Amino acid sequence: MDGNGRWAKERGLPRIEGHRRGAEAVKRTLKAAQATGVEIITLFAFSVENWNRPKAEVDALMGLLDRFLADQLPELIKRKIRLRTVGRYKELPEHIQNRLRQSEAATAQFTEHTLALALNYGARTEVIDAIKAIAQATQAGTVDPDTLDYDSLRPYLYTNDLPDPDLVIRTSGEARLSNFLLLQAAYAEIYFTSVLWPDFDESHFKAALADYASRERRYGKTADQLQDS
Ligand code: IPE
Ligand code: MG
Repeated sequence: MDGNGRWAKERGLPRIEGHRRGAEAVKRTLKAAQATGVEIITLFAFSVENWNRPKAEVDALMGLLDRFLADQLPELIKRKIRLRTVGRYKELPEHIQNRLRQSEAATAQFTEHTLALALNYGARTEVIDAIKAIAQATQAGTVDPDTLDYDSLRPYLYTNDLPDPDLVIRTSGEARLSNFLLLQAAYAEIYFTSVLWPDFDESHFKAALADYASRERRYGKTADQLQDS
């Protein structure tokens, strides 16, 4: 979800106004995802690198997140959406952790739709945390490094029980992944759009899905092999 700052700047507004409008785009996108049958959506809401922004902006983002979680909990329950956090949870402010725990507990029983919030997330941090945990498990004798493969690595990733993404959408015209789900997105289709996140709506979401539907996913195989299977 990129482009909140530029959206605000174009209008001579403070950056936080862009983030506020970005939160509206989140609500629209959640509705669009549910309406189009997308079961799982992961939003990159705050990266490990975002702590380096000015303190006032970080505080404002955490405030917005707190309010978003409080406001949206009844909506998540009503629409049977499970909330899930992906990231280094324990470094988040205490009040955010409490809200997340509350929302996760209140929606844990829902199985059809999942909203995963990537918060204090970074793929490199995730891999390092996984390596540490695997090293410990190896020492404890519960993991045999010789049998380790991607499927046995999965439980150690922040995304543990979530499937890998099929489609990654990045807004605002930037064409990079910026440390987002680098392992999980190994075979994801990537969709870049110049739309700034606060302007993102159902029509843009549907355009991304239509583009996705036109792609051929070969996973290293040839097009002929796919025809034959
Ligand atoms: C994305 O918008 C929101 C967060 C990273 C929290 P930006 O704040 O990165 O917007 P630009 O890139 O400055 O336009
Ligand atoms: Mg940005």
